[in-house]
Amino acid sequence: MQKKILGAVVAGLIIAGCSQMNAPPPVAALADGQLPLPADYRTWPTFLSAVQREDIKQIRDIYMNAQAKKAVPGNDFPQGSTFVMENWSVRLDDAGKPIKGADGKLVKDKLAAVFVMGKNPGWGAGVPEAQKNGDWIYSAFKGTGELNGEAKYDTCRTCHTPFKDKDYVFRYDEHFAAVK
Ligand code: HEC
Repeated sequence: MQKKILGAVVAGLIIAGCSQMNAPPPVAALADGQLPLPADYRTWPTFLSAVQREDIKQIRDIYMNAQAKKAVPGNDFPQGSTFVMENWSVRLDDAGKPIKGADGKLVKDKLAAVFVMGKNPGWGAGVPEAQKNGDWIYSAFKGTGELNGEAKYDTCRTCHTPFKDKDYVFRYDEHFAAVK
């Protein structure tokens, strides 16, 4: 009798152990500024390239990880999605006006900053409700790849919040129109 109970307990433990192994590994909860800059992001799929921001004298190249690439138009990006955006300064003439190349486009000068946003369940848990952008969190790096210790993450959130219907991703429609 004793043996049977012990056997059942052991079997139960084994089953519990197996089901734990099948569950996805937990992802540590991160906050703004804690997302690292992925080393290999330039090999990632392109989200949009050479976004012309003449208004702020920048060119922006946006990359998405393989998980984000799985997104289906009309839906949110899946958990585990990451975006990396390079913000390039552009060449200016003596009057400080952006120079255009033969193709009529702005010309890259220096990599000024790199912005990252990523989502996973429970990320950004400490963010005040009005500033929450779903599970997205943000990190800002200098052009050198060093974390920008002076970044104001509430400004990232305030600017991206109105895009709730597009999962807080600005050029959502433009991206899906481009990949069609
Ligand atoms: C003034 C508004 C504004 C602020 C502030 C802002 N963003 Fe954005 N962000 C944009 C716009 C607009 C785009 C789309 C690219 C473009 O048109 O420049 C964008 C795009 C992005 C993208 C590419 C994915 C997407 O949504 O298209 C990332 C990543 C990103 N921003 C991160 C950040 C981070 C990190 C901060 C804060 C350090 C930040 N942003 C602050 C306006 C803003």
